[in-house]
Amino acid sequence: MHIPSPSWSRLLIPAIFLSPWASAVPCSSCKATPSTLQNSTILPYLDPSLCIQDRLDDLLSRMTLEEKAGQLFIKQIPAGVNGTIDNTTFVLDGTRNLTTAPLITEKLLSHFNVNNARSAKQMAEWHNAIQELALQTRLKIPVTIASDPRHAFADTVGSSIASGQFSKFPESLGIAALRDPALAELYAAIVREEYLAVGIRSALQPQIDLVTEPRMARSGQTFGEDANLTASMVVALIKGFQGPELGLTSVTTVTKHFPGAGPARNGNDSHFATGKDNTYFGDFLDYHLIPFKAAIAAGGRQIMPSYARPIGTKYPEVAFGFNKPVITGLLREELGFDGIVVSDWGLITDAEIMGVVEPARAWGVENTTELERAKMVLDAGVDQFGGEIRTELLVRLVNEGQIPESRLDVSVRKLLEEKFMLGLFDNRFVNPEAAERVVGNPYFARIGNETQRRAYTLLTNQADILPLRPKDGVKFYAQGFNASYLEARNLTVVDSPSEADFCFLRLSTPWEARGSPFRQRYHEGRLDFNETEKAAHSALFKACPTIVDILLDRPAVIPEIAEEAAALFGNYGASVDAFLDVVFNKDGWKPEGKLPFDMPRSMRAVEAQVADVPFDTEDPLFEFGHGLSYNRADSCGWKG
Ligand SMILES: *[C@@H]1O[C@H](CO)[C@@H](O)[C@H](O)[C@H]1NC(C)=O
Ligand SMILES: *[C@@H]1O[C@H](CO)[C@@H](O)[C@H](O)[C@H]1NC(C)=O
Ligand SMILES: *[C@@H]1O[C@H](CO)[C@@H](O)[C@H](O)[C@H]1NC(C)=O
Ligand SMILES: *[C@@H]1O[C@H](CO)[C@@H](O)[C@H](O)[C@H]1NC(C)=O
Ligand SMILES: *[C@@H]1O[C@H](CO)[C@@H](O)[C@H](O)[C@H]1NC(C)=O
Ligand SMILES: *[C@@H]1O[C@H](CO)[C@@H](O)[C@H](O)[C@H]1NC(C)=O
Ligand SMILES: *[C@@H]1O[C@H](CO)[C@@H](O)[C@H](O)[C@H]1NC(C)=O
Ligand SMILES: *[C@@H]1O[C@H](CO)[C@@H](O)[C@H](O)[C@H]1NC(C)=O
Ligand SMILES: *[C@@H]1O[C@H](CO)[C@@H](O)[C@H](O)[C@H]1NC(C)=O
Ligand SMILES: *[C@@H]1O[C@H](CO)[C@@H](O)[C@H](O)[C@H]1NC(C)=O
Ligand SMILES: *[C@@H]1O[C@H](CO)[C@@H](O)[C@H](O)[C@H]1NC(C)=O
Repeated sequence: MHIPSPSWSRLLIPAIFLSPWASAVPCSSCKATPSTLQNSTILPYLDPSLCIQDRLDDLLSRMTLEEKAGQLFIKQIPAGVNGTIDNTTFVLDGTRNLTTAPLITEKLLSHFNVNNARSAKQMAEWHNAIQELALQTRLKIPVTIASDPRHAFADTVGSSIASGQFSKFPESLGIAALRDPALAELYAAIVREEYLAVGIRSALQPQIDLVTEPRMARSGQTFGEDANLTASMVVALIKGFQGPELGLTSVTTVTKHFPGAGPARNGNDSHFATGKDNTYFGDFLDYHLIPFKAAIAAGGRQIMPSYARPIGTKYPEVAFGFNKPVITGLLREELGFDGIVVSDWGLITDAEIMGVVEPARAWGVENTTELERAKMVLDAGVDQFGGEIRTELLVRLVNEGQIPESRLDVSVRKLLEEKFMLGLFDNRFVNPEAAERVVGNPYFARIGNETQRRAYTLLTNQADILPLRPKDGVKFYAQGFNASYLEARNLTVVDSPSEADFCFLRLSTPWEARGSPFRQRYHEGRLDFNETEKAAHSALFKACPTIVDILLDRPAVIPEIAEEAAALFGNYGASVDAFLDVVFNKDGWKPEGKLPFDMPRSMRAVEAQVADVPFDTEDPLFEFGHGLSYNRADSCGWKG
């Protein structure tokens, strides 16, 4: 095998915006063999002229058990200030508090994810400092850095993160709303370019869970309710991130959460014991597999099992990461996936998160020891433990003869092969000045900004009130955003709805704050507004014609707003300026989005739905695919 040349779908992007990885020299020859290099001063696995399989064999033959164990973990670390390594202690290893450095130099980990945001230059400098540290280890194995999605305007910490300097798109629901695989591929190609520039080589996406239970807490980062639409989106994303083959300019993808985390009982999130069950009472497990089959066929490199456990299937009622019939039986043997399976974060160890100790997500096997959990996860067929650093457990399993060392070799080989394919052994540093130039450049930022506008989904437009045409003297009232955005457009703003000719109301889909601070990051519970809120909205609607804009991170239940508001938009993460550009049809911007899910009419209908069954909400308020256009003849190309 040789590394493919870096020439594929980066052609979508003007050359001046490509990160410097484009100039990396591919390993094309594969002519040398280890024996001809016996006398060379360079170790065979560090020699770029050798074939990957030979380099892998060489490296594996040199590794100690501890070095192998280190490869089987990926842990979140913070990017330090000013491009330096973070020196605060943040993770407990038995009785010791550790900082970043010993994870690399003592625990011998070489996979990390980073979720905080620094400037592009500082991210790149930090990445280089991490690679320098890895060069100090015996084998000099380069580090692979992963990230949760960080390109959405709306942020949910823990599943998508602060975008900082990166270009800002809507959440993936908004990409789905545009129904355009070419745009989805361009989105991924832009994210890839910005990642490459700062040294992020693994994307903890696409998230292809189907929103068959509308309360599902992580709906915002999915592609909605429909399996075929999601399948077409995941194929486009994998192509955009990885290219036709994984290579020097690829970002590897982690498709999640197998076999689909949509059927969450009551929508409760599976990070927490109250959300541990996926229920399949409609017998629709196969429907949730459709996008995973597409991801596998498209060459998606990594798959992450869901935290949840299945209820109502032929499979054991234990969390998917522990579930051998699901991981080895269904995913590997039936669906033919031979890539890397990385567990979701924290299956073994209880850990303090935001000041509260959260239990390990060993759903259905809570009473096992940590050692037993580690063995079960390996036996299930998982290659890497997410969010853990418990290398000593694997060493002990092998030393006690509970797991053969060859079992570790199977996973280590896949993980290291990926590093070779990404070119990390040969080209591990990035250029911080180039990162500053590439990340959030005007071209990428513009495509992100435009996508925010295009994804707007117009749900109602009474009497064709939209687009608005502000004439002199027209007065506006704003609620839910800063009226200075209107004043910046030289519009007249008043302090009360009764004085206004038009009112704006920006909302988010309701949710219930429950439990620990970490749990409150995941929006669970009811999807409707309470009586107090409804009364306040209604008073506004009665006082003046109101244009409502609601962030649909889940399908809101808002029949009263659809009835009473003058117009109603759904967005999936968009700036105030994007909203106003669409309202006023500025520069021709208009809503092009189509709903990626059904919007239920009532909470009673939500509760009557079967969690795993798509499109079973009774008499939906708006159906999947709904989305109006501007009808008025004057609504195109107006320079507002
Ligand atoms: C290695 O070097 C020795 C001494 O210089 C030489 O005799 C031998 O042929 C070399 N082996 C290879 C494989 O080049
Ligand atoms: C980061 O750099 C800025 C500017 O050079 C400096 O003022 C600040 O003290 C630095 N912070 C740390 C923690 O080094
Ligand atoms: C962390 O420690 C290293 C040396 O161990 C030092 O170079 C670096 O500046 C420190 N970072 C901060 C933010 O203090
Ligand atoms: C680890 O550090 C945290 C603060 O970062 C502290 O609260 C905790 O007591 C420390 N634990 C140990 C065992 O040192
Ligand atoms: C989904 O795609 C499959 C395979 O292409 C096709 O048979 C099926 O009719 C599609 N379903 C819908 C609802 O479009
Ligand atoms: C979901 O969470 C709510 C609130 O904590 C709880 O009342 C409910 O029982 C949970 N559902 C399940 C199935 O555990
Ligand atoms: C774990 O043990 C507790 C009692 O110690 C028991 O109530 C519970 O049912 C057990 N859970 C499982 C999954 O076996
Ligand atoms: C994108 O939108 C942001 C506001 O959200 C604005 O500050 C920025 O200038 C825009 N960039 C481009 C290139 O249009
Ligand atoms: C609204 O924006 C203005 C101008 O940017 C700013 O001065 C003011 O503090 C903002 N108000 C709020 C409530 O954020
Ligand atoms: C607002 O009015 C000022 C003064 O007439 C003008 O300079 C500015 O360009 C206008 N801004 C917009 C967005 O029209
Ligand atoms: C309604 O929801 C708001 C939050 O938007 C909350 O502050 C208020 O207490 C709730 N009222 C009732 C009656 O539940």
